[in-house]
Amino acid sequence: MTKLMIVGDVHGDFSFASAVCRTAEGEGITDIIQVGDFGIWDHLPDGVYFLDQLSLNAERRGVNWTFVAGNHENYDRLENYAEVGELRDADGMVKVRPFIRWTGRTNVWNQAGLRMGAFGGAYSIDRHSRTPGRSWWWQEFPTDTDLNNLEAQVALLPVDVLFTHDSPTSLPTWDGFYKDDRASEQSRTYMDHAYTIARPTTWFHGHYHRKLEYKHFGADVYGLGCNYDAQPMYGMGKQAATAVFDTETHEVKFSTQLL
Ligand SMILES: [Fe+2]
Repeated sequence: MTKLMIVGDVHGDFSFASAVCRTAEGEGITDIIQVGDFGIWDHLPDGVYFLDQLSLNAERRGVNWTFVAGNHENYDRLENYAEVGELRDADGMVKVRPFIRWTGRTNVWNQAGLRMGAFGGAYSIDRHSRTPGRSWWWQEFPTDTDLNNLEAQVALLPVDVLFTHDSPTSLPTWDGFYKDDRASEQSRTYMDHAYTIARPTTWFHGHYHRKLEYKHFGADVYGLGCNYDAQPMYGMGKQAATAVFDTETHEVKFSTQLL
C-alpha cells in the first residue's frame, strides 16, 4: 500500500512545512504533493531560508516534495530554475532544491503506480495591492498554451489524479465566499478545460484555504486548507490542510493537525 501526503497552501511557512515532513515520516510516507501557493519567494532572504531549510529537513525525514505553482509564487524565479537544463528530472520536473521539485506549469508523470497530472496557476484577487515583480507576477494566470501543453502531455490517455491550485467551476460556495469576480471564474473555467483534457477520477486543489469535498462530473474533488498560522486571517475555523491519499483504494483522509 502506498500513501501520499497531499498538502494545501504553505505560503512559505517553514514551521508548518517542517511539521508536514515530520508527520509524513511518522506515517511512513515518502512523497508529498503540494497544490500551490507553496512559497517560491526566493528574491527575498526569508524565501531562500524557506527553500534551503525545507530541503534539508525533507532529506532528514526521508521525504520528497513535489509542488504545483499557485498564484502567489515568484514566476520569474520559477522560469529561471526551469531554464537551467540540468535541473530537470526524469519526470520533466524542475528541481528547485535537492528534495523539492516543481511540476512545471503543466505536467503528466507516473508516481506510485498512478498517472498524475498537474495544471498550475490562478488569479490573485489582491493583485492591485501588490507590486509587479516583487509580490505579484503576471504569469500566475493559466493560459491557452498551458492547455495545449497539457493536451500534448496527456496524449489521449486519461490521468488518475489531477493536481491544480485552482478549483473547477463546480466549486461549492459558502457564506462569505469572495472569489466570485469574473477573472477568478475565468481561471476556474481553465480548470474545467484541464479536467476535460485529463479526465481524472481524483482531483486535489488549494487556493480557497478551505477543506472541500465535491464532484466535478466523474471526479471526486478535494480542496485543502492552508498553513495553520494563516487560517485566522481568512476568518474560518480550523481547516484540514493535509490529506493522506491511498494510491490503491483512492481513499482520502483529511487531517486538521500535524504531529
Ligand atoms: Fe493561498
